[in-house]
Amino acid sequence: MKAGKTNLLLTVLMTTLFLFGFGLKYIGPSPKTPEISSGKSDNLKALKLLDQNCLSCHNPDMTGGHASRLAPPIFKVREHYYREDITKEEFTASILNFVKNPSEDKTKMRGAIRNFGLMPSLVIPQEDLELIVNYIYDNDLSSEAWKIDWDTFKKNQIRN
Ligand code: HEC
Repeated sequence: MKAGKTNLLLTVLMTTLFLFGFGLKYIGPSPKTPEISSGKSDNLKALKLLDQNCLSCHNPDMTGGHASRLAPPIFKVREHYYREDITKEEFTASILNFVKNPSEDKTKMRGAIRNFGLMPSLVIPQEDLELIVNYIYDNDLSSEAWKIDWDTFKKNQIRN
């Protein structure tokens, strides 16, 4: 076979494979709306709010290293506030109390203040904040299940 013909065949083959791959992507199991596994209809809205208001600093992705981060990842923050025997009310109240008016004497993360400086106070509507802190309580942000939710959310975010 001549080289030119082989090249042509190869090109056709690659194009076919490429288009096939594309086709798969569209009929494949990638839902248009994220299926957040942990239930609760408010969950997706809350995750959006969390993403928009908190995760730019509290990035849950551990790639990129310490130098590029602005604050501890959100699951670390949750770990410092969560206890087996804490009630949802206590948990959410204690995070709200800090976020609404961050100060050194309220901190449970002195090391984080040393590393990153005190968190700035943010202007966020109370009802959004409540959705966010309930979400942080309801979801084990260090679990594999949550990482899957988070990955699904990000993928859908890019596609939409
Ligand atoms: C502009 C960056 C930034 C944003 C946005 C941000 N944080 Fe923080 N946050 C920080 C930094 C830096 C720290 C670590 C220092 C500290 O604890 O104050 C922190 C710490 C915290 C802590 C631990 C406080 C302590 O010291 O015990 C909580 C709780 C927290 N953030 C919640 C949130 C929530 C909830 C949101 C979104 C509504 C949010 N943060 C958005 C920067 C941010």
